[in-house]
Amino acid sequence: NWAMKNVAQEIIEDLRRKIDGKVILGLSGGVDSSVVALLLHKAVPDKLIPIFVDTGLLRKNEAQEVLKQFEGLGIKIHYVDASERFYSVLDGIEDPEEKRKRIGHTFIDVFYEEAMRLKEEHGDIKYLAQGTLYPDVIESKVAERKAGAKIKTHHNVGGLPEKLPFTIVEPLRYLFKDEVRMIGKEIGLPENILNRHPFPGPGLAVRIIGPVTRDSVKILQEADAIFIEELKKWELYNKVWQAFAVLLPVKTVGVMGDYRTYENVIALRAVTSEDGMTADWAKLPYEFLNHVAKRIVNEVKGVNRVVYDITSKPPATIEWE
Ligand code: XMP
Repeated sequence: NWAMKNVAQEIIEDLRRKIDGKVILGLSGGVDSSVVALLLHKAVPDKLIPIFVDTGLLRKNEAQEVLKQFEGLGIKIHYVDASERFYSVLDGIEDPEEKRKRIGHTFIDVFYEEAMRLKEEHGDIKYLAQGTLYPDVIESKVAERKAGAKIKTHHNVGGLPEKLPFTIVEPLRYLFKDEVRMIGKEIGLPENILNRHPFPGPGLAVRIIGPVTRDSVKILQEADAIFIEELKKWELYNKVWQAFAVLLPVKTVGVMGDYRTYENVIALRAVTSEDGMTADWAKLPYEFLNHVAKRIVNEVKGVNRVVYDITSKPPATIEWE
């Protein structure tokens, strides 16, 4: 695709012209921030410092996989393990919006502290790069107009830019998601990053109904990993918009051998969608669901029942919280 190749080349040259100091970037492993990382790496390889904040609320092995994959691309990531801090601010919190608020604030605090520390170390950090897309720009303009005042952009990093003494760089701000994917492909971003399902900023915290603990995260990660692994094996992963497991705050009775069990329920959620605004529950094959349910109950300690969510959006939402 020569058009996208040209766009990518233009962005890279523009970055090379503009960036005359170190640039930090919050890397999540999602498509947008990954494309920004790779563009910057191509433009100004020794000026880029990507920061990966491990919230402890990511999918199983996700942090390690992101680090490894970027290392393979020749990009060294500054890794921050903040999981204890996230678990501690979430301690006992059940309300979904309160979870989001606490995670959002903690993320900003951690990123800010780390950025300041790196500035001490590297001196000349001048820029903060972000994966803001055109729809994000429009959305925040509309919000601005509605509120009659300036409102900061981006749901995941709201408030961040204002607080930091860096110039914001947004190389994707005139692009739509599909164009970002095409650019990513042109510049050699691996397939599995390009086609990765969307993942919410608050991560697994909003897929654990009720309080979040290290143990509940572990159970959910294991169940989710089996679901995703099997979707890929059955070549269903790329046919759905999103698929994930949810841990419910109820215990139910089961039987294993001669024993009665009383354990957790996992709900599986898979949807098809164009943009996440509306969605249909995915009609996954019964044999597939049967196989996944068996594996989860057999392999994940603490789970004795699996259910499948058959509601569409609306009236349900994609996530359970
Ligand atoms: P819902 O659950 O509202 O989700 O149907 C629509 C899309 O948005 C994602 N989502 C979030 N993304 N922070 C995010 O960055 C959030 O708090 C959040 N909540 C939902 C969801 O995964 C789906 O793709």
